[in-house]
Amino acid sequence: MTNKKEIKNICCIGAGYVGGPTMAVIADKCPHIQIDVVDLNNERISSWNNDDLNLLPIYEPGLAEIVGRCRGKNLHFSNLIEEKIGTADMVFISVNTPTKKKGIGAGKASDLKWVESCARQVAKFSKGYTIVVEKSTLPVRTAETIMSILYGSMSDKIHKNQTASFEVLSNPEFLAEGTAIKDLENPDRVLIGGANNDAMELLSEIYRNWVPKEKILKTNIWSSELAKLTANAFLAQRISSINSISALCEATGADIREVSRAIGSDTRIGSKFLDSGPGFGGSCFKKDILNLVYLAEYFGLPEVANFWEEVVNINHWHQHRISKLIVKKLLGTVVGKKICILGFAFKANTNDTRESSSITICKDLIDEGAILFIHDPQVSSAQIYSALEKKENYQIKEIKEQNDFLKYEGQWCFEENIYNCSEGADAIVVLTEWEEYSLIDWKDISKRMRKPSWVFDSRSIISQQEVIKANLNFWRIGDGTNI
Ligand code: NAD
Ligand code: UGA
Repeated sequence: MTNKKEIKNICCIGAGYVGGPTMAVIADKCPHIQIDVVDLNNERISSWNNDDLNLLPIYEPGLAEIVGRCRGKNLHFSNLIEEKIGTADMVFISVNTPTKKKGIGAGKASDLKWVESCARQVAKFSKGYTIVVEKSTLPVRTAETIMSILYGSMSDKIHKNQTASFEVLSNPEFLAEGTAIKDLENPDRVLIGGANNDAMELLSEIYRNWVPKEKILKTNIWSSELAKLTANAFLAQRISSINSISALCEATGADIREVSRAIGSDTRIGSKFLDSGPGFGGSCFKKDILNLVYLAEYFGLPEVANFWEEVVNINHWHQHRISKLIVKKLLGTVVGKKICILGFAFKANTNDTRESSSITICKDLIDEGAILFIHDPQVSSAQIYSALEKKENYQIKEIKEQNDFLKYEGQWCFEENIYNCSEGADAIVVLTEWEEYSLIDWKDISKRMRKPSWVFDSRSIISQQEVIKANLNFWRIGDGTNI
């Protein structure tokens, strides 16, 4: 039953990397809609409400300005989950869907317990006709589960003389971290999957406030759910493809930047997502591909499952390949050697470290006995501690005698200053493409490092000429021109 003419109140469950920025942009573009973003995590909600806009829980260029404009007007952050579901015409489910750690499908299938709990809350607290929108990335056919919970609750409500009815839509999010606001303001497309045209139209109307009509695609609900997983799988596949070729470049005298440019000029291939790096990170690529692999296995398609699983396997191999070659270049051992890690976020312009290649590479180097001084302009030492599952040792900052490093093998500390970081170091490893790393004064750094010293550039952002002029050894991803 559709009895709404327009959406006036939105409730978004989940104030994370997707819920926060997405709702901020909708609020900015639709001043006539009241938006409540709710979350179980009180600390996160307090950060969203912090007077100091530099202390929002998510660092995303342009986000603070929008939150500053809309917060308290038509954008509100709270933990009033039940109340805000009750007043909403439309509820977005934007909660986490990580890979299951145990039970059936462990290590591959998505854990849907948070999504299910949202559906149950909506079933219990919604009033009247509510459109429920899947914003989280979900396995194809999850809408069926949500519908069965919602429709199942309708008879309960009738017994209590309450009226309730629901429509479920899929509206996956394609934003990338670091460019989230740009992506939301000017999306390549908005995808809406569903069966009820009126409900789809109501959601489409919201986006039409700033997105051209022709960019709003409508599909059936299963195509929409599957298209999101497929988009991430295709993007990740490009990165694994180019990274696998980078290893071949290093072995043959080719240069991955030249190969990327040459193949990217073919309009059928296209030039985006062809930058070889330390391997893809982020909370979604690995999780979503493994979910696809699980689905393919579940539906009896092992060849399809194996094809996509290789994308993740190559990524894993590639990350370890980098750790191994660092050890090899540093004369076969890094025990007691000081290595500066530049960048811990999984990409530039975000403070997110989930599945960052820096985690794998740092863990490998720590296991080998290196002493890591880690720098990142947006990631805190507390985040690094939690990612590495190893406490920071501040004492190593006090070491003056090079030999004393040997006593502290396998330790790490956080360092805010890149130049201090390089004092007495044997190597500098660039793992995130922060712009400030491309502006480093290598002559100054060189004076501070122990010789022979190495610079490893896994992101192709360092000037080879300047590093070599500064008398430093240089390795760069996919560069076989020095063999
Ligand atoms: P996140 O972990 O940053 O945020 C999820 C939030 O949901 C958390 O704050 C958590 O406390 C809250 N939550 C969980 N269960 C809840 C409940 N029952 N009631 C209230 N709050 C609850 O996750 P995210 O990165 O925003 O991702 C959310 C979804 O969006 C995932 O499915 C992800 O795959 C998808 N996605 C993420 C991105 C991205 O760039 N991070 C992009 C596109 C899609
Ligand atoms: C990715 C997709 O790009 C988004 O469309 C999608 O919405 C999102 O996942 C999601 O579902 O979570 P995100 O992970 O935020 O976005 O960032 P990307 O720009 O895709 O980068 C992912 C990883 O690939 C990063 O580690 C990045 O450094 C790496 N990458 C990217 C490369 O190594 N080379 C490239 O050319 C591009």
